[in-house]
Amino acid sequence: MLYLNKEFEKKIGWKTEEVKDVDLMEKVYPDPVCRRQALEYMQKASVEWKEFRVQSRTGKSIVSEWSNIRLKDGTQISIGIDITRRKQDEEKLKQYSEHLEKMVDERTKALREAQKKLLLKERLAILGHFAGSISHEIRNPLAAIDSSVYFLKMGMGEGNEKVRKHLGRITSNVHKATSIIESLLNLTRMEKPKAEIHDLSELVNDALQSSKIPDTVEVVTSFSESISINSEREQIRMALKNIIKNAVQAMDGSGKLMITACIVKTGNAELVLTDTGPGIPSENLNKIFEPLFTTKAQGIGFGLSITKMIIENHGGTIRAESEPGDRLLLTCP
Ligand SMILES: Nc1ncnc2c1ncn2[C@@H]1O[C@H](COP(=O)(O)OP(=O)(O)OP(=O)(O)O)[C@@H](O)[C@H]1O
Ligand SMILES: [Mg+2]
Repeated sequence: MLYLNKEFEKKIGWKTEEVKDVDLMEKVYPDPVCRRQALEYMQKASVEWKEFRVQSRTGKSIVSEWSNIRLKDGTQISIGIDITRRKQDEEKLKQYSEHLEKMVDERTKALREAQKKLLLKERLAILGHFAGSISHEIRNPLAAIDSSVYFLKMGMGEGNEKVRKHLGRITSNVHKATSIIESLLNLTRMEKPKAEIHDLSELVNDALQSSKIPDTVEVVTSFSESISINSEREQIRMALKNIIKNAVQAMDGSGKLMITACIVKTGNAELVLTDTGPGIPSENLNKIFEPLFTTKAQGIGFGLSITKMIIENHGGTIRAESEPGDRLLLTCP
């Protein structure tokens, strides 16, 4: 004799009087494997709760927990609890905790990045302090050497060819040393930009005009629309000149430099500079913005770090990509 209580009838849909001619187990557990497991569990008459997924008369899947009691007279009572809601809540909680974990991971990563940046900034600040204090001391003797060499050359007239050659070497090395000091000062003493609204194409043309570009390098600019950015003209000129100089050097005298600009989804301006040089190996893409990273015999490795600092001081970003093609992307608010 099988008796189904009111709650079972309500939830699962079958009534006591209906199941005389129906295999209730088959209806409730359509999957034979589950049915066998459920039957075995019932036969064991274990009081421990075990989870089973049952199917209601209307086909609804209900997650339930079952416990069985066998009375002394052999009567067996099976008690089931609908835990679908609890399961759904547990699933939601699991998803939420996974989401939280992901968020914590992301925040930790961002924090590490920020810490790395801070460390670099600290290193630069120390370097800046050091550079600032000795730069004048070095700049003045360099200027004195430069002018003395100039007067020596003047005084010599045609003079000894070998001596002239060595004086020339002194001059060029003095200029190189001076430019290292200038770059160091630029990098470490960059002031907060005094920003004004400027037309981006004007800023680009300004930088192009003040750069040394051989006739054999073709420059193509393309601006999708008139774009204004809030920036300090001199700083942006310096930033762009460094990129243009790199492009010209990379193309070894001849090639094509393409400069395009547009407004991206975020509302920021994006400037893309592409040259037809050999490109940047992917393993160097992250290093090129670090101070003192250079692959050039005569390079110092200041150009792009100064550019990066300027762009970031303007609230923008700079990145290099090697796919598709090699290009530098600048975004500015
Ligand atoms: N357009 C480019 N094509 C290929 N490599 C580039 C390009 N621009 C930069 N690089 C790489 O990035 C490195 C760093 O550039 P960065 O301008 O900071 O220093 P540098 O040009 O080597 O020296 P400096 O600018 O101080 O004279 C370069 O040495 C070069 O390897
Ligand atoms: Mg450079």
